[in-house]
Amino acid sequence: MPIDPVNTLKRWFDTYSRSFLSGDPSADGAHSLKIAHTRRVCEIIVHLGKTMGLSARQLGLAEAIGLFHDLGRFEQFRRFGTFNDRLSVNHAALSVDILETTGILNDLPMADRSIIMDAVRFHNAPSLPGNKPEENTFFMRLIRDADKLDIWKVFADYCRMGKRPEPAIVQHLSDLPICSPAIIKAILEKRMANFKEMKSINDFKLLQLSWVFDLQFPESLALAATQGNLQVIAQSLPADASVQQAISVVLAQLSSSGSSPHPQDHKE
Ligand SMILES: [Fe+2]
Repeated sequence: MPIDPVNTLKRWFDTYSRSFLSGDPSADGAHSLKIAHTRRVCEIIVHLGKTMGLSARQLGLAEAIGLFHDLGRFEQFRRFGTFNDRLSVNHAALSVDILETTGILNDLPMADRSIIMDAVRFHNAPSLPGNKPEENTFFMRLIRDADKLDIWKVFADYCRMGKRPEPAIVQHLSDLPICSPAIIKAILEKRMANFKEMKSINDFKLLQLSWVFDLQFPESLALAATQGNLQVIAQSLPADASVQQAISVVLAQLSSSGSSPHPQDHKE
């Protein structure tokens, strides 16, 4: 995809996303977070793409996917006041609906449109479909990694500042000092934990640590290790033996990338 269409898509996204802002910062928190998340996911996905040597067309596709992967979040929060898909709608499906209804991708070649739509549709799916063209599958995997890398940063920043995460972001979970055995078990078995098992913010943090086992590319694992965000989230969890054992499995996975955390990213 040449540069010009991406700039057109970015301008459209800016106008669309800003239309949800009221101008009152206390009311705009959730939408503003998603605008900022989108910007950073675009930066991360392009960075990963460059590291992997993608072509200019492929970098354009990657940026468009980053731009639209959470498009439905704005409408979801406006309609339901939550980012919890189980209590509202699947935000990825809503993103695809909006892309189709607005026709914003209609000028793109059919193959490019299909790549963007599939990557958006499946960015939050428990597993990926096995019947898609190779290039579609590559971008589905790429956005999943870029999305995780930024969500880790958001959580680690809350930990660094000693702040409680925005309630909408943690799906209004309590901050009781409990950790669900099912989530710890998933980590010990080196697999992604299930959203349904979450009962506390600690569970949300552990769930995020479990995402390290779903990273698709060595470049993503290396970036995660260098950024140090998972290490910061881990440090904010209770000292219980079972939790610490789970953390050590996560950190061992991270260190398998061969990269070590950047000292600056380790600051509290
Ligand atoms: Fe998403």
